[in-house]
Amino acid sequence: MLDVSNLQLSYGKRTIISDLSLAPLKNGQLVALLGPNGSGKSTLLKALAGLLKLSKGEVVLDGQNLARSSFEQRAQHVVYLPQSLPASVHLRVFESVLVAAKASALAPDNSGQINEDEILSLLKRLGIEHLALHYLDQLSGGQKQLVGLAQALIRRPRLLLLDEPLSALDLNYQFHVMDLLRQETHEHQLTTLIVLHDLNIALRHCDYAVMIKGGGLLAEGEPNNVINAQTLGDAYGVSARIESCSKGIHQVLIDGLRKPIL
Ligand SMILES: Nc1ncnc2c1ncn2[C@@H]1O[C@H](COP(=O)(O)OP(=O)(O)OP(=O)(O)O)[C@@H](O)[C@H]1O
Ligand SMILES: [Mg+2]
Repeated sequence: MLDVSNLQLSYGKRTIISDLSLAPLKNGQLVALLGPNGSGKSTLLKALAGLLKLSKGEVVLDGQNLARSSFEQRAQHVVYLPQSLPASVHLRVFESVLVAAKASALAPDNSGQINEDEILSLLKRLGIEHLALHYLDQLSGGQKQLVGLAQALIRRPRLLLLDEPLSALDLNYQFHVMDLLRQETHEHQLTTLIVLHDLNIALRHCDYAVMIKGGGLLAEGEPNNVINAQTLGDAYGVSARIESCSKGIHQVLIDGLRKPIL
């Protein structure tokens, strides 16, 4: 379980998130982190990953205060996939996932052997086993993003932080990856926080949603309750409808802009 309370995050003197508290995020939940550009989603994820010092507040994972944990302790339990695509190093896909697995296996409490079959099986589950021997710096943007996901998942974290991990993926892989993340999250009781701009994906695949605006909480709860005409108007300045399709799945439809940007 992840508890975030009274969080304040700043870059220098500029406060981005002020006094953010969330209802506890339970293990086994795939949580969508939503909000407009510049609202503080990546800043929040960086802080949860320990890459940005908390100005105030607490982040507690399964009773362990992350701000007081060592880098090694945190690395063992928390995995963060940044918004930018992984650097293009001249390493084969399989080797790069092996390096990621070793990083976790070498952490103090994790003496588990690295099983190469496990890596191949994960690549297969992600639909990229055919890329195992390809070089990272010769992959397409979407292929690199899938390898980034493999590097994150092989580490079996308790808290998985994914910043727009679908941004370079086609429709088929978006659906496939969300299915896989949901399975992994439920099966291994992870807490997975995923930043998304596609609200229909959040409605369809996520168990819970947190919507922020201007560094403050706008709504939290089941995606069906968080994503509604009111919050979409408040957060994004759009006139929106949520319609149920013939299969009963909720879909966001945008009728227009309430507040044009220009
Ligand atoms: N390293 C930094 N130094 C100073 N200000 C920053 C830095 N990174 C982000 N900011 C500012 O913090 C605010 C929140 O940025 P953040 O990247 O968290 O937004 P976001 O919600 O992830 O947006 P997006 O959807 O565009 O990725 C923005 O106003 C941004 O300009
Ligand atoms: Mg961001």
